[in-house]
Amino acid sequence: MIGMGGRHNWRLTSVDSFILCLLILLVQSIPAHQEGFISIKCCGGEGQTDSSSITWISDDQWYPDETGCQNIARASSDNYTTGHDKVRYFYLGNSEKRCYSLPTTPDRDYLIRGTFPFSNSVVGSVSSTFDVLVGVTPIDLVDSSGESQVEGIFRATDQYIDFCLVQETGDPYISQLELRPLSDDSSYLDGKDSTVLLKLVDRVDLGNNGIPIRFPDDPHDRIWTSQDTERVSLSAITTINNTISKTVAKVPLKVLETAITNEYSFQFLYIDLETRDCNYTIFLHFFELDDNVRPGQRVFDIYINNEKQQANFDIKENGSNYSELALNVTANGSLNLTLARVENKSKFGPILNAYEIMQVRQWVEGTHHRDGMYVQ
Ligand SMILES: *[C@@H]1O[C@H](CO)[C@@H](O)[C@H](O)[C@H]1NC(C)=O
Ligand SMILES: *[C@@H]1O[C@H](CO)[C@@H](O)[C@H](O)[C@H]1NC(C)=O
Ligand SMILES: *[C@@H]1O[C@H](CO)[C@@H](O)[C@H](O)[C@H]1NC(C)=O
Ligand SMILES: *[C@@H]1O[C@H](CO)[C@@H](O)[C@H](O)[C@H]1NC(C)=O
Ligand SMILES: *[C@@H]1O[C@H](CO)[C@@H](O)[C@H](O)[C@H]1NC(C)=O
Ligand SMILES: *[C@@H]1O[C@H](CO)[C@@H](O)[C@H](O)[C@H]1NC(C)=O
Ligand SMILES: *[C@@H]1O[C@H](CO)[C@@H](O)[C@H](O)[C@H]1NC(C)=O
Ligand SMILES: *[C@@H]1O[C@H](CO)[C@@H](O)[C@H](O)[C@H]1NC(C)=O
Ligand SMILES: *[C@@H]1O[C@H](CO)[C@@H](O)[C@H](O)[C@H]1NC(C)=O
Repeated sequence: MIGMGGRHNWRLTSVDSFILCLLILLVQSIPAHQEGFISIKCCGGEGQTDSSSITWISDDQWYPDETGCQNIARASSDNYTTGHDKVRYFYLGNSEKRCYSLPTTPDRDYLIRGTFPFSNSVVGSVSSTFDVLVGVTPIDLVDSSGESQVEGIFRATDQYIDFCLVQETGDPYISQLELRPLSDDSSYLDGKDSTVLLKLVDRVDLGNNGIPIRFPDDPHDRIWTSQDTERVSLSAITTINNTISKTVAKVPLKVLETAITNEYSFQFLYIDLETRDCNYTIFLHFFELDDNVRPGQRVFDIYINNEKQQANFDIKENGSNYSELALNVTANGSLNLTLARVENKSKFGPILNAYEIMQVRQWVEGTHHRDGMYVQ
């Protein structure tokens, strides 16, 4: 997909090193409400604090030139809830790249997220496609025909991480870039090492039919979407909700307060995944919202691509009404996640409150210490 090998010579000069040090100092001196968050609105937004108390900075420390700055005509804020109406274009030649270098602490886990608005919302724009890299690992190909967000989770191995755009056709662009250190109780990379990068495929708050939301009490500042009915086909389901007073969970309580259920079963079908053998980890978050359900009364099997991954799953079997599962699967092109009531045993059908699908990608080792901020 990306033919970078040998075609360009990325050099780190002492000027770049100086700029990097300067950037680290600048970024660290920014008073952030959420410790360690780096929140960048490209082409502006300096010092703005949004409704989630996140303080945003401009990217002019990385790219002072304003030539590539454009306004977004259609408010992408409706979907990504920050109200930022600018985008930075990079006018690049064949396969050139531009990076944002962000400071990290080695051995710490991070979430990194770039937002790329629908390019038709930018006056006079032509279509473009470009690769998005974390370090030197490609994680996505952005196509300007749709609005997109690209998110990766990784363990830092160095003092910085590069987030890069590599030109394919037309001009690459970016509107927002966010880096969030994950707290120690995050289990995304459990059992995995620093040789992998998780690419977010979908993160769904079931039973919530509104716009994507970030919850101010989410230490990882994740964005939870509602079920995309075009992408995922569901059999008849019922939405249920309840108020949760308190519980120890890996996701915000608000995410657990809504769920879907069906008397017998329901399924999620993803048919547009990469067509090659890829590894995925699927995180399932369960909370028994119905206090009338006792242990042994809601028991279900969990299938992925027709293989039973969990038999007789019972959320309440250990006395808690919260449970989570991480399932590893290899899939080529499609994923069918099905939850089905255990026949003749369970009184109630399956319930699911939220899920996340992550593609497990091998981290590509850089052959050089780091990519320069500017192409030489
Ligand atoms: C929000 O997302 C939905 C579904 O992806 C899309 O149809 C809609 O146009 C988007 N709205 C905005 C304002 O981006
Ligand atoms: C999933 O894979 C990770 C390593 O990638 C491993 O540590 C974990 O135990 C696996 N989980 C299951 C349920 O197999
Ligand atoms: C919870 O469910 C009730 C009906 O059972 C509904 O009226 C209400 O809007 C729901 N609340 C949320 C937050 O979905
Ligand atoms: C969850 O469990 C606690 C303690 O067992 C219980 O008090 C609570 O009512 C349960 N349900 C909800 C919806 O929080
Ligand atoms: C993945 O699926 C595609 C299309 O069905 C097929 O051509 C390809 O051989 C499959 N790859 C593997 C590794 O099975
Ligand atoms: C998927 O996981 C298996 C087992 O952990 C590993 O051997 C294989 O290389 C992985 N495949 C990819 C494409 O990462
Ligand atoms: C999804 O998996 C379930 C359980 O294995 C199966 O019954 C169902 O037919 C599958 N759906 C599709 C569309 O393959
Ligand atoms: C209950 O505890 C056992 C043993 O620790 C564990 O294997 C199982 O997954 C737990 N069940 C649930 C629903 O969390
Ligand atoms: C469930 O019970 C019905 C009626 O007794 C029986 O026909 C069926 O085979 C049972 N199913 C299973 C999976 O035991």
